[in-house]
Amino acid sequence: MKAERMIDLKDVTAVEEQYQLATYKKMPLVAESGEGVWIYTNDGQRYLDLYGGHAVAGTGHCHPHVVNAIKGQAEKLLFYSNLVYSEARAHASQKLISVAPKTLTKTFFCNSGTEANENAMRMARMATGREKVITFDSGFHGRTADAISATFLGKYRELGKPNVPGHLRAEFGDIESVRVAADDSVAAIMLEPIQSMAGVRLAEPSFYRALREFCDEHGIVLIYDEVQTGIGRTGEWFFAGGDAGDRVVPDIITLAKSLGSGIPVGACLVTEKISSHIKENDFGTTFGGGMIAMAAVTATLEAIEMDGMLANVRGVEAYIRERLREVEQVVAVRGKGLLLGLEFADNARPIHEALLDRKIITGTSSDAKVLRLLPPLCLSKADIDLFVESLSFVVRR
Ligand SMILES: Cc1ncc(COP(=O)(O)O)c(C=O)c1O
Repeated sequence: MKAERMIDLKDVTAVEEQYQLATYKKMPLVAESGEGVWIYTNDGQRYLDLYGGHAVAGTGHCHPHVVNAIKGQAEKLLFYSNLVYSEARAHASQKLISVAPKTLTKTFFCNSGTEANENAMRMARMATGREKVITFDSGFHGRTADAISATFLGKYRELGKPNVPGHLRAEFGDIESVRVAADDSVAAIMLEPIQSMAGVRLAEPSFYRALREFCDEHGIVLIYDEVQTGIGRTGEWFFAGGDAGDRVVPDIITLAKSLGSGIPVGACLVTEKISSHIKENDFGTTFGGGMIAMAAVTATLEAIEMDGMLANVRGVEAYIRERLREVEQVVAVRGKGLLLGLEFADNARPIHEALLDRKIITGTSSDAKVLRLLPPLCLSKADIDLFVESLSFVVRR
């Protein structure tokens, strides 16, 4: 029997609350469809989505090129595992490597960001024969055992008790703290190059360079968790290799979120040197590299190219920064591209709520004073005008 249509917000809320674990504080809307930067609810309202469903809708909601690729693949073959070759997987890995920094030459596909980070740490341990991993204060890397143990942000690590041993903590932006934390048994240093959940924190370019040099000196694997910053979000394909990070390229980049435009997929991009330490059966996943996800990855990268989204991100970043100068309650705009943190003098949560009342979705962060914007990369100047007008209105109330 087919499920019955639920039109009313109250009906959907009641059923979800009855049958779903209450793990998220949800916004009071039922998302039914989407197009570009817009989300439409089941009662016919539309919301400007400046959060992109946790930074996932990079190409915008339901980009036709991505939707057609997924449909076309679904009609041919939904899935077969890594035990067979696949044209969809061949295309996705080739395309992803073609946009990656040149020293990253191999992909490993998995299903999520936390999995990508777990696999990256394991690759580093295999490549070095060492065990420990240094990560940074306020970084977020996921919720599975090893990734949550690497997450020194708020209560997360505590939630993952008992933690995986061998995780060391340093201060983001402070190379001295890395020197103090490190010993001979460090396999990897892993960081979010822009700490998103912490309130969009970016370090000085010299910090990334110093990390690269430190890793080279001590044979440590440098891992960039680009789950949020990757796939065009900063106005370049990756944070790695860009000016904000002094053009530093790590040994491994991890990806997820917008990589499949909403189809779950994660990836590790690795150097030739790392890949030389990995043998058959060292790594595996049932779903990673499945055909639907691979079709989504290729089409996502193509859509970003076809629509000139990287240039768009750079253009609208400049525009949003300029327009936000008119809003004096915004005391700082942090971040890069379309990963932006708007800092207010006081708690920003009431502003988040008031914007939602005006049908604009923004993101909060673990810094109560910072609202995050992680919109689709196709955001236009007109969308920004709408946002700034609404923001100006709600902060004056
Ligand atoms: C920087 C970063 N790394 C890792 C993760 C974990 O990704 P996932 O939720 O796909 O496991 C997230 C999720 O928010 C993230 O923001």
